[in-house]
Amino acid sequence: MDKRPESMARINTPALAQAFIAEQIEAIRAQVGDKRVLLALSGGVDSSVVAALLIRAIGKQLVCVHVNHGLLRKGEPEQVVQVFRHEMGAELIYVDAVDRFLDKLSGVADPERKRKIIGKEFIDVFAEEAKKLSGIAFLAQGTIYPDILESVGLKSHHNVGGLPEDLQFELVEPVKYLYKDEVRQVGLALGLPESMVYRQPFPGPGLGVRCVGAITRDRLEAVRESDAILREEFAKNGLQGKVWQYFTIVPDFTSTGICDGKRTDAWPVVIRAVNSVDATSATIEEIPYALLHHITARITSEVKGVNRVLYDLTPKAPATIEWE
Ligand code: XMP
Repeated sequence: MDKRPESMARINTPALAQAFIAEQIEAIRAQVGDKRVLLALSGGVDSSVVAALLIRAIGKQLVCVHVNHGLLRKGEPEQVVQVFRHEMGAELIYVDAVDRFLDKLSGVADPERKRKIIGKEFIDVFAEEAKKLSGIAFLAQGTIYPDILESVGLKSHHNVGGLPEDLQFELVEPVKYLYKDEVRQVGLALGLPESMVYRQPFPGPGLGVRCVGAITRDRLEAVRESDAILREEFAKNGLQGKVWQYFTIVPDFTSTGICDGKRTDAWPVVIRAVNSVDATSATIEEIPYALLHHITARITSEVKGVNRVLYDLTPKAPATIEWE
């Protein structure tokens, strides 16, 4: 196993983060010389920190590819473009692959097949973009130390397979010895926005596993809009950064409701808010009832196709954190 050097101090102050950044800039420059480096930039904490570090080290020699698969949260693709292209001046290729992913997923209800399709399609889109570029010699990755420790961890287990054989690059993994809290320290020291650095864990297949069963565009929008309301209310009420993971789910069934004196037939939105240390078990956050009432009123009035809001009270185990 690739082991973290014992002499490496825990990065827990801005000064230590700055020292790490200076050291890594030298190491990256020495490794890549004048060659180009490719990075799949999802906007998650790890790939964002790697992007910011590489921009400092090698500027436009870094090419970031952001694939919008249509399963990202509201505002995320826009934030990636704004922060990396406009504020940090990165070379960023934005790929709108929404139709392509949703067409491939159309009618597919099995959770594992959904994950496989999303993973494979992601690799295909990324590989197509990589083939259009010339002079790429390195692939940067946001591998962090827990990924190495759990070599069958989530990233390798659930998400990305490998690139095709004709597209193999030498790896650049500048944060591979860091724990998550250290990656966050480095992200802050690099000037990334707090909303990016303190993001809650988000699965690779994104909102796809929260739009239960076969994904439809209208139900996916209901997931995205209700999630945005939940996040906004958690932020306003001091729960952001305090609760480990919180999101909404829209199951693929409807129930009867009433609106303006007429019967409705619409989806429920399920709220899930859990606390955990490493995702192997989870407990329920005790959200104040008043806040639950307020979120329910907002979701039922603002989200199309929804007439009911439920709060999932089940810990892990017996439930998992995600619904599929
Ligand atoms: P479960 O639902 O198994 O989730 O209790 C545990 C943690 O893993 C996340 N998760 C995933 N992450 N790809 C990922 O990158 C996936 O396919 C996936 N499925 C679940 C989940 O959000 C939670 O943090």
